[in-house]
Amino acid sequence: MYKLNEYKNAIENTNIVSKTDINGIITFVNDEFCTLCGYSKDELIGKNHNIIRHPDTPQSAFKILWDTILAGRVHKGIVKNLKKNGDFFYAQTTIIPIFDENNQIFEFIAIRHDVTQMFLLNEELANTKQKLLNLNENLELQIAEKTKNLQELNQNLEKKIQEAIKINNEQQKIIFQQNRQVILGQMLENIAHQWRQPLNELSLAIYLLHNENKKKHYKLCQKLIQNMSQTINDFRNFINPNHITQYNLLPKVIKSSLFITYQSIKKSNIKLKFIIDKNAYKIPIKCNLNELSQVFVNIINNAKDAFNNTNNFNKILTFNLSYNKDKFILKIYDNAGGVHNDIIEHIFDPYFTTKHKKQGVGLGLYICKQILNNIDATITCSNYKNGACFEIIFKGD
Ligand SMILES: Nc1ncnc2c1ncn2[C@@H]1O[C@H](COP(=O)(O)OP(=O)(O)OP(=O)(O)O)[C@@H](O)[C@H]1O
Ligand SMILES: [Mg+2]
Repeated sequence: MYKLNEYKNAIENTNIVSKTDINGIITFVNDEFCTLCGYSKDELIGKNHNIIRHPDTPQSAFKILWDTILAGRVHKGIVKNLKKNGDFFYAQTTIIPIFDENNQIFEFIAIRHDVTQMFLLNEELANTKQKLLNLNENLELQIAEKTKNLQELNQNLEKKIQEAIKINNEQQKIIFQQNRQVILGQMLENIAHQWRQPLNELSLAIYLLHNENKKKHYKLCQKLIQNMSQTINDFRNFINPNHITQYNLLPKVIKSSLFITYQSIKKSNIKLKFIIDKNAYKIPIKCNLNELSQVFVNIINNAKDAFNNTNNFNKILTFNLSYNKDKFILKIYDNAGGVHNDIIEHIFDPYFTTKHKKQGVGLGLYICKQILNNIDATITCSNYKNGACFEIIFKGD
């Protein structure tokens, strides 16, 4: 009996203990119980245990509880309880039915631990988890939205780039056209020049047809007309904007460019010098005749302009075409003083010019570079002796 009391004390001192009769009427509460729920012993004894029942705890939970203990089994569970002041506490509760000597239940002992803190912590943890989940979901949504925005931006950017490329291509075409028109003007001047002489001769020959040896003058007339017609054909070939790439011999292309520039070269008193490798008359290169002529015309015109700014009386423009390791290297150099070192790296830029507005717009060399680029050829400029040297390397097939 003494030992039993010790156990009883031990349990009562370390737990929250209450007892009810078989109907749930409180018959005993320990101090801990009173402290926890805020009632005095007097307020509790004789009352139904449901005085501390919290409305949050569902009816079904109590049904299970009563079914279990009335069946004589121990019930364990965590229950939310109500304090006198309206607060709540969670208790880990074990309810044990006590039997009398007839094996009939005569009371219930409930032993509890206050697990409010643990429960609240758990709840907080669950809340935090939910928040994290929400955050994660939000984040995913935000990422999806941002990705969509980026994709749209990307698409827009691609569209803009394509538009810019289109505009650029059109501008390029305009630039080419501008350069072509300048050359065209030069050609018209040449035609006038080239025809003046044969026209004079023609009119004289026709006049002489009346009186003198008709056959001889008739032949001369025919030859003059043939030459003039050829001139027209040559010019027409140059103007004709066909973009077909064919195989051409480089000397033929050079000749075609000289044909256009010949009058101005003559007028400026420029001597031409040719050093041409014999392979150049046998091995053609893949290019568009008109476009490549345009390159040489631009270089010749630049040399002519440079000569016009010097007092040099011995003006020589050299075409040096060599062949080495399946490659043609064409050096076109003058002795007109060269390009100033400060600007030499800019001369291929579009609209770079050192000339007066009327004389140049700064497109010549830019166009040369573009045309050569299209046929896989390169162009560089350096100063050589007393002049500028343009070196073109045709890579070949
Ligand atoms: N043979 C050369 N000698 C000295 N300077 C040159 C020579 N060739 C080109 N340059 C320099 O390079 C610049 C650019 O030449 P580019 O042919 O591109 O334009 P431009 O001749 O000024 O004008 P455009 O050719 O459009 O009429 C020239 O203004 C000139 O300063
Ligand atoms: Mg030029």
